[in-house]
Amino acid sequence: MIYSFAFKIHIVISTITLLAGISTLVMSIHGLKRKREYGRQDFVVSLVFNVALYFQLFLGFLIYFLLRSTLEGPMWEVPDTQNDASLRFWAIEHIALMIFALFLTQLGRVFIKRSKGSTRKFRASLFYFGTSLLLILFSVGMAMFSR
Ligand code: HEM
Repeated sequence: MIYSFAFKIHIVISTITLLAGISTLVMSIHGLKRKREYGRQDFVVSLVFNVALYFQLFLGFLIYFLLRSTLEGPMWEVPDTQNDASLRFWAIEHIALMIFALFLTQLGRVFIKRSKGSTRKFRASLFYFGTSLLLILFSVGMAMFSR
């Protein structure tokens, strides 16, 4: 019950994360092309992307460590991940890629804050958020093919 609730929220926030990620890219490309100022809207969308990923991290760990393990066995019992491709995927690939995506997004926000001038801010935004979004899309894509 709590498991499926947390899982549904994880899926809903996935959509918000993807929309915010795509928006940061579109806004960065637009900003670079039009040579406009890096504004409040750019800051807010990148913040949404970053905060949504933190939420996903919290929910993901909640699902994995607490709820999933109470449903499928004791928490201290480490699953035999080498023999189960699907479990291995969730245990290692998805979580590792998403944490790296979150790290890149956080790093990007720090770089944008420190960069002087809108062009540099948009370039940093494009690089860090773009790489982060690629990782997210790759991980979600892998989820679909591993089923
Ligand atoms: C930031 C750290 C994240 C962690 C620790 C995490 C963890 C997890 C875990 C443990 C599951 C498996 C639930 C289960 O099958 O019982 C899961 C499922 C899922 N996650 Fe994440 N996740 C994270 C971020 C994200 C993000 C950013 C997205 C997409 C934007 C995402 C999309 C999904 C989807 C679509 C599923 C369900 C796949 C399916 O069952 O078909 N996750 N996540």
